[in-house]
Amino acid sequence: MKKAYNIIEHNYDVVVVGAGGAGLRATLGLVENNLKVACITKVFPTRSHTVAAQGGISAALGNMGEDKWHWHMYDTVKGSDWLGDQDAIEYMCREAIPAVVELEHYGVPFSRTPEGKIYQRPFGGMTTEFGDGPPANRTCSAADRTGHAILHTLYQQSIKNRAEFFIEYIALDLIMDGENGCRGVMAWCLEDGSIHKFNAHKVILATGGYGRVYFSATSAHTCTGDGNAMALRGGVPLQDMEFVQFHPTGIYGAGCLITEGTRGEGGYLTNSEGERFMERYAPNAKDLASRDVVARSMTIEINEGRGVGDQSDHIHLHLNHLDPKVINDRLPGISETAKIFAGVDVTKEPIPVIPTCHYNMGGIPAKYTGEVVTNLDGKNDIIVPNLYAIGEAACVSVHGANRLGSNSLLDLVVFGRSVAKHISNEFKENGKLPPKQKKSEEQCLDRFDNIRFSKGEVLVSDIRLKMQKIMQSYCAVFRTGEGLKKGNKEIEKVVTEFNHIGTKDKSLIWNTDLLETLELQNLLQQAMVTIKSADNRKESRGAHARDDYKERNDEDWLFHTLAWLKDNDIKMGSRPVTLRAMSNEVQSFPPKARVY
Ligand code: SIN
Repeated sequence: MKKAYNIIEHNYDVVVVGAGGAGLRATLGLVENNLKVACITKVFPTRSHTVAAQGGISAALGNMGEDKWHWHMYDTVKGSDWLGDQDAIEYMCREAIPAVVELEHYGVPFSRTPEGKIYQRPFGGMTTEFGDGPPANRTCSAADRTGHAILHTLYQQSIKNRAEFFIEYIALDLIMDGENGCRGVMAWCLEDGSIHKFNAHKVILATGGYGRVYFSATSAHTCTGDGNAMALRGGVPLQDMEFVQFHPTGIYGAGCLITEGTRGEGGYLTNSEGERFMERYAPNAKDLASRDVVARSMTIEINEGRGVGDQSDHIHLHLNHLDPKVINDRLPGISETAKIFAGVDVTKEPIPVIPTCHYNMGGIPAKYTGEVVTNLDGKNDIIVPNLYAIGEAACVSVHGANRLGSNSLLDLVVFGRSVAKHISNEFKENGKLPPKQKKSEEQCLDRFDNIRFSKGEVLVSDIRLKMQKIMQSYCAVFRTGEGLKKGNKEIEKVVTEFNHIGTKDKSLIWNTDLLETLELQNLLQQAMVTIKSADNRKESRGAHARDDYKERNDEDWLFHTLAWLKDNDIKMGSRPVTLRAMSNEVQSFPPKARVY
Protein backbone atom coordinates (compact mmCIF):
# COMPACT_ATOMS: atom_id res chain seq x y z
CA MET A 1 0.00 0.00 0.00
CA LYS A 2 1.50 3.34 -1.06
CA LYS A 3 0.70 6.50 0.83
CA ALA A 4 0.47 10.15 -0.13
CA TYR A 5 2.65 12.13 2.23
CA ASN A 6 2.11 15.70 3.26
CA ILE A 7 5.64 16.91 2.60
CA ILE A 8 6.93 19.82 4.69
CA GLU A 9 9.25 22.02 2.59
CA HIS A 10 12.19 24.08 3.90
CA ASN A 11 14.59 26.42 2.11
CA TYR A 12 18.18 26.87 3.27
CA ASP A 13 21.47 28.15 1.91
CA VAL A 14 23.22 25.04 3.14
CA VAL A 15 22.03 21.76 4.61
CA VAL A 16 24.56 19.79 6.63
CA VAL A 17 23.70 16.15 7.18
CA GLY A 18 25.32 14.87 10.37
CA ALA A 19 26.30 16.57 13.62
CA GLY A 20 29.55 14.86 14.56
CA GLY A 21 32.85 16.75 14.67
CA ALA A 22 32.91 17.44 10.91
CA GLY A 23 29.23 18.41 10.58
CA LEU A 24 29.37 20.70 13.62
CA ARG A 25 32.62 22.37 12.57
CA ALA A 26 31.15 23.02 9.12
CA THR A 27 27.86 24.27 10.58
CA LEU A 28 29.70 26.62 12.92
CA GLY A 29 31.90 28.03 10.13
CA LEU A 30 28.86 28.63 7.92
CA VAL A 31 26.71 30.35 10.53
CA GLU A 32 29.65 32.50 11.54
CA ASN A 33 29.50 33.71 7.93
CA ASN A 34 25.81 34.52 8.29
CA LEU A 35 24.52 31.76 6.07
CA LYS A 36 21.15 30.14 6.72
CA VAL A 37 22.07 26.61 7.70
CA ALA A 38 20.10 23.53 8.69
CA CYS A 39 21.97 20.70 10.39
CA ILE A 40 20.01 17.46 10.15
CA THR A 41 21.04 14.69 12.54
CA LYS A 42 19.67 11.30 13.47
CA VAL A 43 21.02 11.49 17.02
CA PHE A 44 21.33 14.36 19.46
CA PRO A 45 24.55 16.19 18.35
CA THR A 46 26.53 15.45 21.50
CA ARG A 47 25.72 11.75 21.08
CA SER A 48 27.28 11.59 17.61
CA HIS A 49 30.02 8.98 17.34
CA THR A 50 32.80 11.61 17.57
CA VAL A 51 31.98 11.52 21.28
CA ALA A 52 33.77 8.16 21.42
CA ALA A 53 37.10 9.42 20.02
CA GLN A 54 39.44 9.11 22.95
CA GLY A 55 43.14 9.64 22.41
CA GLY A 56 43.34 13.01 20.72
CA ILE A 57 43.84 15.25 17.73
CA SER A 58 47.21 15.57 16.00
CA ALA A 59 48.89 18.93 15.27
CA ALA A 60 52.58 19.77 15.17
CA LEU A 61 52.32 22.42 17.90
CA GLY A 62 55.71 21.48 19.32
CA ASN A 63 54.54 22.02 22.91
CA MET A 64 56.45 19.03 24.23
CA GLY A 65 59.50 18.78 21.98
CA GLU A 66 60.43 20.08 18.56
CA ASP A 67 57.88 19.37 15.85
CA LYS A 68 57.05 20.50 12.30
CA TRP A 69 53.99 20.07 10.13
CA HIS A 70 56.33 18.85 7.37
CA TRP A 71 57.22 15.83 9.57
CA HIS A 72 53.53 15.27 10.29
CA MET A 73 52.91 15.32 6.53
CA TYR A 74 55.66 12.76 5.89
CA ASP A 75 54.29 10.45 8.61
CA THR A 76 50.78 10.70 7.15
CA VAL A 77 51.97 9.95 3.60
CA LYS A 78 53.96 6.96 4.89
CA GLY A 79 51.03 5.85 7.11
CA SER A 80 48.78 5.96 4.03
CA ASP A 81 51.17 3.56 2.25
CA TRP A 82 51.50 6.25 -0.41
CA LEU A 83 47.84 6.06 -1.42
CA GLY A 84 47.03 9.39 0.26
CA ASP A 85 46.84 12.52 -1.92
CA GLN A 86 49.84 14.59 -0.92
CA ASP A 87 48.29 17.98 -1.74
CA ALA A 88 45.41 17.29 0.65
CA ILE A 89 47.75 15.81 3.27
CA GLU A 90 49.89 18.95 3.15
CA TYR A 91 46.77 21.06 3.61
CA MET A 92 45.59 19.00 6.59
CA CYS A 93 48.94 18.94 8.41
CA ARG A 94 49.62 22.64 7.81
CA GLU A 95 46.13 23.75 8.81
CA ALA A 96 46.17 21.45 11.85
CA ILE A 97 48.02 24.10 13.81
CA PRO A 98 45.58 27.04 13.41
CA ALA A 99 42.60 24.66 13.53
CA VAL A 100 43.59 23.24 16.93
CA VAL A 101 44.49 26.64 18.37
CA GLU A 102 41.08 27.84 17.20
CA LEU A 103 39.44 24.89 19.00
CA GLU A 104 41.23 25.94 22.16
CA HIS A 105 39.89 29.47 21.73
CA TYR A 106 36.38 28.12 21.16
CA GLY A 107 36.73 26.52 24.59
CA VAL A 108 37.88 22.90 24.23
CA PRO A 109 39.22 21.94 27.68
CA PHE A 110 42.52 20.36 26.58
CA SER A 111 44.78 18.70 29.17
CA ARG A 112 47.74 20.94 30.04
CA THR A 113 51.51 20.75 30.49
CA PRO A 114 52.89 22.21 33.74
CA GLU A 115 53.49 25.50 31.81
CA GLY A 116 49.84 25.59 30.78
CA LYS A 117 50.28 24.59 27.14
CA ILE A 118 48.12 21.99 25.39
CA TYR A 119 49.30 18.52 26.46
CA GLN A 120 50.54 16.29 23.59
CA ARG A 121 51.19 12.53 23.68
CA PRO A 122 52.91 10.13 21.27
CA PHE A 123 50.68 8.12 18.91
CA GLY A 124 51.37 5.32 16.43
CA GLY A 125 53.37 6.28 13.34
CA MET A 126 53.93 9.88 14.49
CA THR A 127 57.66 10.62 14.35
CA THR A 128 60.17 13.43 13.94
CA GLU A 129 62.86 14.20 11.30
CA PHE A 130 60.90 12.54 8.47
CA GLY A 131 60.85 9.21 10.28
CA ASP A 132 64.49 9.26 11.35
CA GLY A 133 64.01 10.90 14.75
CA PRO A 134 62.29 9.75 17.97
CA PRO A 135 58.49 9.53 18.31
CA ALA A 136 56.73 12.90 18.15
CA ASN A 137 54.58 14.17 21.01
CA ARG A 138 51.94 15.44 18.57
CA THR A 139 48.53 14.25 19.74
CA CYS A 140 46.68 16.95 21.68
CA SER A 141 44.31 15.45 24.20
CA ALA A 142 41.62 16.24 26.72
CA ALA A 143 42.48 13.25 28.97
CA ASP A 144 41.04 10.28 27.03
CA ARG A 145 37.80 12.07 26.17
CA THR A 146 39.01 14.37 23.42
CA GLY A 147 36.16 13.73 20.97
CA HIS A 148 33.65 14.34 23.76
CA ALA A 149 35.27 17.68 24.63
CA ILE A 150 35.41 18.84 21.00
CA LEU A 151 31.84 17.81 20.25
CA HIS A 152 30.37 19.65 23.24
CA THR A 153 32.35 22.80 22.46
CA LEU A 154 31.38 22.87 18.79
CA TYR A 155 27.71 22.25 19.59
CA GLN A 156 27.66 25.07 22.14
CA GLN A 157 29.37 27.45 19.72
CA SER A 158 26.92 26.51 16.95
CA ILE A 159 23.94 27.16 19.23
CA LYS A 160 25.49 30.48 20.29
CA ASN A 161 25.70 31.40 16.59
CA ARG A 162 22.07 30.39 16.01
CA ALA A 163 22.52 27.34 13.84
CA GLU A 164 19.25 25.49 13.30
CA PHE A 165 19.27 21.82 14.26
CA PHE A 166 16.79 19.19 13.09
CA ILE A 167 17.41 16.48 15.65
CA GLU A 168 16.30 12.86 15.23
CA TYR A 169 15.62 13.45 11.55
CA ILE A 170 16.68 10.56 9.33
CA ALA A 171 18.09 11.70 5.98
CA LEU A 172 16.57 9.43 3.35
CA ASP A 173 18.01 10.47 0.00
CA LEU A 174 19.67 13.30 -1.87
CA ILE A 175 17.62 15.37 -4.26
CA MET A 176 19.72 15.12 -7.41
CA ASP A 177 19.12 17.07 -10.57
CA GLY A 178 21.26 16.03 -13.56
CA GLU A 179 22.11 19.60 -14.53
CA ASN A 180 22.56 21.28 -11.17
CA GLY A 181 23.86 18.41 -9.09
CA CYS A 182 22.52 18.22 -5.57
CA ARG A 183 19.57 20.43 -4.65
CA GLY A 184 18.60 19.16 -1.25
CA VAL A 185 17.75 16.25 0.98
CA MET A 186 14.65 14.28 1.91
CA ALA A 187 14.27 13.41 5.57
CA TRP A 188 11.91 11.67 7.99
CA CYS A 189 11.32 13.10 11.48
CA LEU A 190 11.23 10.27 14.01
CA GLU A 191 9.48 12.30 16.69
CA ASP A 192 6.27 13.15 14.84
CA GLY A 193 6.58 10.96 11.74
CA SER A 194 6.55 13.87 9.28
CA ILE A 195 8.37 13.80 5.93
CA HIS A 196 10.52 16.81 5.00
CA LYS A 197 12.08 18.18 1.85
CA PHE A 198 15.07 20.42 2.53
CA ASN A 199 15.77 22.52 -0.57
CA ALA A 200 19.28 23.93 -0.46
CA HIS A 201 21.87 25.63 -2.59
CA LYS A 202 24.52 23.34 -1.16
CA VAL A 203 24.43 20.02 0.72
CA ILE A 204 27.25 18.73 2.91
CA LEU A 205 27.36 15.05 3.83
CA ALA A 206 29.04 14.56 7.21
CA THR A 207 27.44 11.26 8.08
CA GLY A 208 30.46 9.33 9.37
CA GLY A 209 31.59 5.78 8.73
CA TYR A 210 29.87 2.43 8.28
CA GLY A 211 31.70 0.31 10.85
CA ARG A 212 28.50 -1.58 11.67
CA VAL A 213 28.92 -3.57 8.47
CA TYR A 214 31.26 -5.74 10.63
CA PHE A 215 30.41 -8.07 13.51
CA SER A 216 32.98 -6.56 15.87
CA ALA A 217 33.35 -2.78 15.70
CA THR A 218 34.30 0.11 17.95
CA SER A 219 31.65 2.12 16.08
CA ALA A 220 28.30 3.01 17.62
CA HIS A 221 25.20 1.20 16.34
CA THR A 222 24.37 4.44 14.53
CA CYS A 223 27.47 4.19 12.28
CA THR A 224 25.64 2.93 9.21
CA GLY A 225 27.21 5.23 6.59
CA ASP A 226 23.88 6.71 5.54
CA GLY A 227 25.51 9.50 3.49
CA ASN A 228 27.70 7.02 1.59
CA ALA A 229 24.64 5.01 0.64
CA MET A 230 22.71 8.16 -0.35
CA ALA A 231 25.63 9.15 -2.57
CA LEU A 232 25.65 5.71 -4.22
CA ARG A 233 21.93 5.94 -4.88
CA GLY A 234 22.46 9.46 -6.24
CA GLY A 235 24.88 8.10 -8.87
CA VAL A 236 28.11 9.13 -7.08
CA PRO A 237 30.81 6.45 -6.75
CA LEU A 238 32.56 5.55 -3.49
CA GLN A 239 36.34 5.57 -3.34
CA ASP A 240 38.88 3.15 -1.79
CA MET A 241 36.25 1.16 0.03
CA GLU A 242 38.56 -1.86 0.38
CA PHE A 243 40.56 0.01 3.03
CA VAL A 244 39.01 -0.65 6.43
CA GLN A 245 40.98 0.01 9.59
CA PHE A 246 41.06 -2.49 12.44
CA HIS A 247 42.08 -0.81 15.69
CA PRO A 248 44.50 -3.06 17.58
CA THR A 249 42.84 -2.60 20.94
CA GLY A 250 39.11 -3.20 20.97
CA ILE A 251 38.03 -4.98 24.18
CA TYR A 252 37.79 -8.72 23.49
CA GLY A 253 34.12 -9.71 23.23
CA ALA A 254 32.65 -6.22 23.67
CA GLY A 255 34.44 -4.31 20.89
CA CYS A 256 34.72 -1.07 22.94
CA LEU A 257 37.71 1.09 22.08
CA ILE A 258 40.78 1.22 24.33
CA THR A 259 42.67 4.22 23.01
CA GLU A 260 46.03 4.03 21.30
CA GLY A 261 46.86 6.75 23.83
CA THR A 262 47.38 3.86 26.30
CA ARG A 263 50.40 2.78 24.26
CA GLY A 264 51.34 6.44 23.83
CA GLU A 265 51.53 6.68 27.63
CA GLY A 266 53.74 3.56 27.84
CA GLY A 267 51.31 0.60 27.60
CA TYR A 268 52.43 -2.52 25.69
CA LEU A 269 51.07 -5.75 24.20
CA THR A 270 52.04 -9.32 25.10
CA ASN A 271 51.23 -12.80 23.79
CA SER A 272 50.61 -16.04 25.72
CA GLU A 273 54.37 -16.39 26.33
CA GLY A 274 54.44 -12.99 28.00
CA GLU A 275 56.53 -11.74 25.06
CA ARG A 276 56.41 -8.11 23.90
CA PHE A 277 56.04 -9.40 20.38
CA MET A 278 55.86 -6.00 18.63
CA GLU A 279 59.64 -5.80 19.05
CA ARG A 280 59.91 -8.54 16.41
CA TYR A 281 57.53 -6.94 13.92
CA ALA A 282 58.49 -3.26 14.26
CA PRO A 283 61.94 -3.07 15.90
CA ASN A 284 61.96 0.74 16.02
CA ALA A 285 58.41 1.85 16.66
CA LYS A 286 57.37 -1.35 18.49
CA ASP A 287 53.89 -0.91 20.06
CA LEU A 288 53.66 2.51 18.41
CA ALA A 289 53.93 1.24 14.85
CA SER A 290 51.04 2.25 12.65
CA ARG A 291 47.72 0.57 13.29
CA ASP A 292 47.59 -1.79 10.33
CA VAL A 293 51.03 -3.14 11.28
CA VAL A 294 50.07 -3.71 14.93
CA ALA A 295 46.68 -5.27 14.05
CA ARG A 296 48.33 -7.68 11.59
CA SER A 297 51.06 -8.62 14.06
CA MET A 298 48.45 -9.41 16.72
CA THR A 299 46.45 -11.50 14.25
CA ILE A 300 49.57 -13.47 13.27
CA GLU A 301 50.36 -14.12 16.94
CA ILE A 302 46.83 -15.45 17.48
CA ASN A 303 46.83 -17.49 14.25
CA GLU A 304 50.16 -19.07 15.18
CA GLY A 305 48.81 -20.20 18.55
CA ARG A 306 50.29 -17.51 20.79
CA GLY A 307 47.02 -15.79 21.70
CA VAL A 308 46.00 -15.52 25.36
CA GLY A 309 42.88 -16.82 27.13
CA ASP A 310 41.12 -20.23 27.16
CA GLN A 311 40.77 -20.16 23.42
CA SER A 312 44.11 -18.48 22.67
CA ASP A 313 42.17 -15.94 20.64
CA HIS A 314 43.18 -12.54 21.97
CA ILE A 315 46.12 -10.47 23.27
CA HIS A 316 46.97 -8.67 26.51
CA LEU A 317 47.42 -4.91 26.80
CA HIS A 318 49.40 -3.93 29.92
CA LEU A 319 49.00 -0.67 31.78
CA ASN A 320 49.55 -2.15 35.23
CA HIS A 321 53.19 -0.98 35.29
CA LEU A 322 52.20 2.69 34.79
CA ASP A 323 52.09 5.21 37.61
CA PRO A 324 48.44 5.25 38.81
CA LYS A 325 48.58 9.05 38.62
CA VAL A 326 49.18 8.83 34.84
CA ILE A 327 46.18 6.52 34.55
CA ASN A 328 43.96 8.75 36.71
CA ASP A 329 44.95 11.98 35.00
CA ARG A 330 45.32 10.91 31.40
CA LEU A 331 43.36 7.67 30.96
CA PRO A 332 40.37 7.85 33.32
CA GLY A 333 37.81 6.91 30.66
CA ILE A 334 39.43 3.68 29.55
CA SER A 335 39.93 2.59 33.17
CA GLU A 336 36.16 2.78 33.57
CA THR A 337 35.50 1.10 30.21
CA ALA A 338 37.91 -1.75 31.02
CA LYS A 339 36.23 -2.26 34.42
CA ILE A 340 32.71 -2.31 32.98
CA PHE A 341 33.29 -4.26 29.77
CA ALA A 342 36.21 -6.55 30.66
CA GLY A 343 35.93 -6.68 34.47
CA VAL A 344 39.56 -5.58 34.70
CA ASP A 345 41.30 -3.20 37.11
CA VAL A 346 43.90 -1.70 34.77
CA THR A 347 46.23 -0.84 37.62
CA LYS A 348 46.54 -4.56 38.43
CA GLU A 349 45.68 -6.69 35.39
CA PRO A 350 46.14 -6.58 31.60
CA ILE A 351 43.18 -5.77 29.36
CA PRO A 352 42.08 -8.51 26.91
CA VAL A 353 42.09 -6.93 23.44
CA ILE A 354 41.63 -7.89 19.82
CA PRO A 355 41.81 -5.97 16.49
CA THR A 356 38.34 -4.49 15.94
CA CYS A 357 36.85 -2.60 12.98
CA HIS A 358 37.36 1.07 13.76
CA TYR A 359 37.50 3.33 10.72
CA ASN A 360 36.70 3.49 7.01
CA MET A 361 39.42 5.10 4.95
CA GLY A 362 37.10 4.88 1.92
CA GLY A 363 34.09 7.06 1.27
CA ILE A 364 32.73 9.76 -1.00
CA PRO A 365 35.51 11.12 -3.26
CA ALA A 366 36.11 14.75 -2.34
CA LYS A 367 38.67 17.53 -2.67
CA TYR A 368 40.22 19.37 0.28
CA THR A 369 37.49 21.99 -0.21
CA GLY A 370 34.86 19.31 0.43
CA GLU A 371 33.67 19.38 -3.20
CA VAL A 372 32.54 15.92 -4.27
CA VAL A 373 34.12 14.60 -7.45
CA THR A 374 33.63 11.72 -9.79
CA ASN A 375 35.90 10.47 -12.56
CA LEU A 376 34.75 8.68 -15.66
CA ASP A 377 38.00 8.13 -17.58
CA GLY A 378 40.45 7.35 -14.79
CA LYS A 379 42.17 10.69 -15.43
CA ASN A 380 40.06 13.82 -15.12
CA ASP A 381 37.95 14.66 -12.09
CA ILE A 382 34.47 16.08 -12.59
CA ILE A 383 32.92 18.10 -9.78
CA VAL A 384 29.43 17.04 -8.70
CA PRO A 385 27.81 20.48 -8.37
CA ASN A 386 26.58 21.61 -4.97
CA LEU A 387 27.44 18.37 -3.18
CA TYR A 388 30.14 18.26 -0.49
CA ALA A 389 31.48 15.53 1.78
CA ILE A 390 33.65 15.78 4.88
CA GLY A 391 34.85 13.64 7.78
CA GLU A 392 34.77 9.86 7.76
CA ALA A 393 32.06 9.86 5.09
CA ALA A 394 34.52 11.47 2.70
CA CYS A 395 37.64 10.11 1.05
CA VAL A 396 39.73 13.26 0.47
CA SER A 397 42.09 11.19 0.51
CA VAL A 398 44.31 12.10 3.42
CA HIS A 399 44.46 8.62 4.95
CA GLY A 400 45.01 6.58 1.81
CA ALA A 401 45.32 2.89 2.64
CA ASN A 402 45.73 3.36 6.40
CA ARG A 403 44.94 6.22 8.79
CA LEU A 404 47.25 7.23 11.60
CA GLY A 405 45.65 7.46 15.04
CA SER A 406 44.58 11.03 15.96
CA ASN A 407 44.44 12.11 12.31
CA SER A 408 40.70 11.44 12.33
CA LEU A 409 39.61 14.18 14.74
CA LEU A 410 41.99 16.36 12.78
CA ASP A 411 40.39 15.47 9.45
CA LEU A 412 36.93 16.31 10.89
CA VAL A 413 37.97 19.72 12.13
CA VAL A 414 40.26 20.78 9.26
CA PHE A 415 37.87 19.81 6.49
CA GLY A 416 34.75 20.97 8.37
CA ARG A 417 36.51 24.32 8.60
CA SER A 418 37.67 24.32 4.96
CA VAL A 419 34.28 23.42 3.48
CA ALA A 420 32.71 26.27 5.45
CA LYS A 421 35.33 28.69 4.11
CA HIS A 422 34.95 27.42 0.56
CA ILE A 423 31.15 27.61 0.52
CA SER A 424 31.08 31.01 2.23
CA ASN A 425 33.48 32.38 -0.40
CA GLU A 426 31.40 30.89 -3.20
CA PHE A 427 28.30 32.63 -1.91
CA LYS A 428 30.23 35.90 -1.66
CA GLU A 429 31.57 35.59 -5.20
CA ASN A 430 28.61 34.11 -7.04
CA GLY A 431 25.61 35.07 -4.95
CA LYS A 432 22.82 32.61 -4.48
CA LEU A 433 21.49 30.77 -7.48
CA PRO A 434 17.78 30.02 -7.21
CA PRO A 435 17.41 26.29 -6.58
CA LYS A 436 16.11 24.72 -9.79
CA GLN A 437 14.75 21.29 -9.43
CA LYS A 438 12.57 18.83 -11.16
CA LYS A 439 10.39 16.18 -9.59
CA SER A 440 12.62 14.70 -7.01
CA GLU A 441 10.97 13.10 -4.08
CA GLU A 442 9.07 10.31 -5.83
CA GLN A 443 11.93 7.87 -6.18
CA CYS A 444 12.95 8.42 -2.58
CA LEU A 445 9.45 7.88 -1.25
CA ASP A 446 8.98 4.78 -3.40
CA ARG A 447 12.00 3.24 -1.73
CA PHE A 448 10.75 4.34 1.68
CA ASP A 449 7.31 2.84 1.05
CA ASN A 450 8.69 -0.40 -0.38
CA ILE A 451 10.46 -0.95 2.91
CA ARG A 452 7.73 0.45 5.13
CA PHE A 453 5.02 -1.76 3.63
CA SER A 454 7.17 -4.83 3.01
CA LYS A 455 5.37 -8.05 3.93
CA GLY A 456 8.03 -10.78 3.71
CA GLU A 457 9.03 -13.21 6.45
CA VAL A 458 12.74 -12.46 6.70
CA LEU A 459 13.92 -10.67 9.85
CA VAL A 460 16.12 -7.56 9.60
CA SER A 461 18.19 -8.78 12.55
CA ASP A 462 18.96 -12.09 10.78
CA ILE A 463 20.11 -10.36 7.61
CA ARG A 464 22.22 -7.87 9.52
CA LEU A 465 23.94 -10.64 11.46
CA LYS A 466 24.63 -12.64 8.31
CA MET A 467 26.12 -9.58 6.59
CA GLN A 468 28.30 -8.77 9.61
CA LYS A 469 29.61 -12.34 9.88
CA ILE A 470 30.39 -12.52 6.16
CA MET A 471 32.33 -9.27 6.28
CA GLN A 472 34.16 -10.33 9.45
CA SER A 473 35.08 -13.73 7.95
CA TYR A 474 36.17 -12.68 4.48
CA CYS A 475 37.03 -9.00 4.52
CA ALA A 476 38.80 -8.26 7.83
CA VAL A 477 42.51 -7.94 8.76
CA PHE A 478 43.75 -10.58 6.28
CA ARG A 479 42.00 -11.36 2.99
CA THR A 480 42.44 -14.06 0.34
CA GLY A 481 41.22 -14.11 -3.26
CA GLU A 482 39.23 -17.26 -2.62
CA GLY A 483 37.66 -15.85 0.55
CA LEU A 484 36.72 -12.58 -1.14
CA LYS A 485 35.05 -14.41 -4.04
CA LYS A 486 33.08 -16.53 -1.57
CA GLY A 487 32.24 -13.47 0.52
CA ASN A 488 31.06 -11.61 -2.57
CA LYS A 489 28.69 -14.44 -3.47
CA GLU A 490 27.38 -14.68 0.08
CA ILE A 491 26.76 -10.94 0.28
CA GLU A 492 24.86 -11.08 -3.01
CA LYS A 493 22.68 -13.83 -1.53
CA VAL A 494 21.97 -11.72 1.53
CA VAL A 495 21.10 -8.74 -0.67
CA THR A 496 18.58 -10.93 -2.48
CA GLU A 497 17.13 -12.05 0.85
CA PHE A 498 16.64 -8.41 1.78
CA ASN A 499 13.89 -8.33 -0.88
CA HIS A 500 11.90 -10.64 1.38
CA ILE A 501 12.06 -8.68 4.60
CA GLY A 502 8.92 -7.76 6.45
CA THR A 503 8.64 -4.56 8.43
CA LYS A 504 6.22 -5.32 11.24
CA ASP A 505 5.57 -1.78 12.43
CA LYS A 506 3.98 0.36 9.68
CA SER A 507 3.64 3.55 11.73
CA LEU A 508 5.84 6.62 11.32
CA ILE A 509 6.38 7.82 14.88
CA TRP A 510 9.51 6.44 16.53
CA ASN A 511 9.39 3.43 14.26
CA THR A 512 12.79 1.89 15.02
CA ASP A 513 11.86 -1.21 13.04
CA LEU A 514 11.61 0.88 9.88
CA LEU A 515 14.69 2.93 10.81
CA GLU A 516 16.83 -0.18 11.30
CA THR A 517 15.63 -1.59 7.99
CA LEU A 518 16.59 1.62 6.16
CA GLU A 519 19.96 1.56 7.90
CA LEU A 520 20.43 -2.09 6.97
CA GLN A 521 19.82 -1.31 3.32
CA ASN A 522 22.46 1.41 3.56
CA LEU A 523 24.90 -1.01 5.18
CA LEU A 524 24.28 -3.72 2.60
CA GLN A 525 25.01 -1.35 -0.27
CA GLN A 526 28.34 -0.45 1.34
CA ALA A 527 29.15 -4.09 2.16
CA MET A 528 28.71 -4.90 -1.53
CA VAL A 529 31.09 -2.23 -2.76
CA THR A 530 33.61 -2.89 0.03
CA ILE A 531 34.02 -6.59 -0.65
CA LYS A 532 33.98 -6.08 -4.42
CA SER A 533 36.66 -3.37 -4.18
CA ALA A 534 38.75 -5.69 -1.96
CA ASP A 535 38.45 -8.50 -4.48
CA ASN A 536 39.35 -6.09 -7.27
CA ARG A 537 42.61 -4.81 -5.71
CA LYS A 538 45.22 -7.49 -6.28
CA GLU A 539 48.02 -6.28 -4.04
CA SER A 540 48.61 -5.64 -0.32
CA ARG A 541 48.72 -2.00 0.78
CA GLY A 542 48.04 -0.45 4.19
CA ALA A 543 45.01 -2.03 5.78
CA HIS A 544 44.29 -4.19 2.71
CA ALA A 545 46.42 -7.31 3.32
CA ARG A 546 45.95 -10.16 0.85
CA ASP A 547 47.50 -13.57 1.42
CA ASP A 548 47.55 -14.20 -2.33
CA TYR A 549 49.18 -10.87 -3.29
CA LYS A 550 51.45 -10.14 -0.36
CA GLU A 551 53.37 -7.16 -1.75
CA ARG A 552 52.47 -3.58 -2.54
CA ASN A 553 52.51 -3.15 -6.32
CA ASP A 554 52.90 0.51 -7.28
CA GLU A 555 53.31 -0.27 -10.93
CA ASP A 556 49.82 -1.69 -11.34
CA TRP A 557 47.84 -0.44 -8.33
CA LEU A 558 48.94 3.06 -7.33
CA PHE A 559 45.50 4.57 -7.92
CA HIS A 560 42.25 5.12 -6.06
CA THR A 561 39.45 2.63 -6.59
CA LEU A 562 36.02 3.96 -7.55
CA ALA A 563 32.86 1.84 -7.28
CA TRP A 564 29.41 2.74 -8.62
CA LEU A 565 26.30 0.80 -7.63
CA LYS A 566 23.22 0.62 -9.84
CA ASP A 567 20.42 -1.90 -9.44
CA ASN A 568 22.73 -4.02 -7.29
CA ASP A 569 25.38 -4.15 -10.05
CA ILE A 570 28.81 -2.72 -9.31
CA LYS A 571 30.94 -0.90 -11.86
CA MET A 572 34.60 -0.35 -10.97
CA GLY A 573 36.74 2.61 -12.04
CA SER A 574 39.75 4.57 -10.82
CA ARG A 575 41.21 8.00 -10.00
CA PRO A 576 44.88 8.98 -10.00
CA VAL A 577 46.70 9.47 -6.70
CA THR A 578 48.20 12.96 -6.27
CA LEU A 579 51.88 12.49 -5.49
CA ARG A 580 52.60 16.26 -5.58
CA ALA A 581 52.53 18.52 -2.54
CA MET A 582 50.22 21.57 -2.67
CA SER A 583 52.89 24.24 -2.19
CA ASN A 584 56.60 24.79 -2.62
CA GLU A 585 57.03 24.91 1.14
CA VAL A 586 57.53 21.17 1.31
CA GLN A 587 58.88 18.45 -0.92
CA SER A 588 56.63 15.64 -2.06
CA PHE A 589 57.47 12.13 -0.92
CA PRO A 590 57.93 9.52 -3.65
CA PRO A 591 56.85 5.97 -2.76
CA LYS A 592 59.36 3.80 -0.91
CA ALA A 593 59.25 0.73 1.34
CA ARG A 594 57.25 1.25 4.51
CA VAL A 595 59.16 0.02 7.56
CA TYR A 596 58.57 0.93 11.22
C1 SIN B 1 42.20 6.24 19.74
O1 SIN B 1 42.19 7.01 20.68
O2 SIN B 1 42.95 5.26 19.67
C2 SIN B 1 41.26 6.47 18.62
C3 SIN B 1 41.49 7.77 18.01
C4 SIN B 1 41.64 7.64 16.55
O3 SIN B 1 41.19 6.65 15.98
O4 SIN B 1 42.23 8.53 15.95
